[in-house]
Amino acid sequence: MEMLTGISIKKTTYSKLKEVDFDNLEFGKYIADHMLVCDYYEGEWHQPKIVPFANLSLRPDTLALHYGQTVFEGMKAFRMEDGKVNIFRLDKHHDRFNRSLHRMCMPYMPEEIFSEGLKQLITLDNEWVPNQEGSSLYIRPFMYASEARLGVKPADEYRFIIFTSPVQSVFAKPIKVKVETEYIRAAKGGTGFAKCGGNYGGSFLPTQRAKQQGYDQVLWTVGKDKKFIEESGMMNAMFVINNTLITAPLSDSILDGVTRDSLIQLAKDKGVAVEERRIGTDELITAFRDNTITEAFGAGTAAVVAPINLIHIDGVDYKLPFYTVNNLMNQLKQQLEDIRTGRVSDIYNWNHII
Ligand SMILES: Cc1ncc(COP(=O)(O)O)c(C=O)c1O
Repeated sequence: MEMLTGISIKKTTYSKLKEVDFDNLEFGKYIADHMLVCDYYEGEWHQPKIVPFANLSLRPDTLALHYGQTVFEGMKAFRMEDGKVNIFRLDKHHDRFNRSLHRMCMPYMPEEIFSEGLKQLITLDNEWVPNQEGSSLYIRPFMYASEARLGVKPADEYRFIIFTSPVQSVFAKPIKVKVETEYIRAAKGGTGFAKCGGNYGGSFLPTQRAKQQGYDQVLWTVGKDKKFIEESGMMNAMFVINNTLITAPLSDSILDGVTRDSLIQLAKDKGVAVEERRIGTDELITAFRDNTITEAFGAGTAAVVAPINLIHIDGVDYKLPFYTVNNLMNQLKQQLEDIRTGRVSDIYNWNHII
């Protein structure tokens, strides 16, 4: 791997670190001092630089603002027991970023800029990685079409940025979800598997309506009759029925979640039966009627697991049993935390320790 030896670093003259209440980290409230910036023009990426986190200046005809060529990632760095910092599954996030970019007709992001740039950024802002159990440094890499030109076309110029924010886990409390049967998030051949801005913008109205009806999130469905569960707003959906962990299979309409992948592996290692297959609302209703469904949860970087205590299907609220630390989701969550913090060995090389 080529090292970015020439990366220029301009340090902030005023660190905001002392303003952070690390025991009370509201998601996105604090942004770390520095960001990585790298520009693409004339067909290639230029030398990245690390600069103080600051506003951007954009011309009103910047292409991203009009035609939506924007892609982002969401990942986390953890403070390990020995004090080192671990960026969890960096390679898989980099790979997914490039799959998203490809779908949005945006240029490939080389590993040495994504990974090495990020490592240098985190090394500089090392003190922003929280020590508190369950807290971490959220990492937001993103890219947008920075070319200013009115024509409807893929841009010739792009900007890549990474900034970070100390956070604690969200959705610790169980959530209520509504199976969405009016709107869809993604369709076959569309952009559902890509982490592009438009997927999220399009999901806001249905989610807002669900919230007005008393639910926290929607469960997206797919298919002509909208019967098969895909995923949730920011998480993949998982169910435990008859002691089997069931989740929708990957496709071009679902995000290939890093947490999903990790939990599936850990469940298999425990000897739990795992099925990646279509799961329909009829099957869920039968499982509620027969009391064979014992867990439902979202899996994603922000929450790790978000327990679901109620699922609304076609006008009926179905309640899940109470959860304890012995539930599969909580065992898997604990195991993941133990790997990330170095308490147990990292047999799959998921940790990128800097
Ligand atoms: C639509 C969607 N599904 C699933 C996930 C979970 O993916 P991950 O576990 O990689 O955070 C996310 C969050 O990134 C998401 O935005």
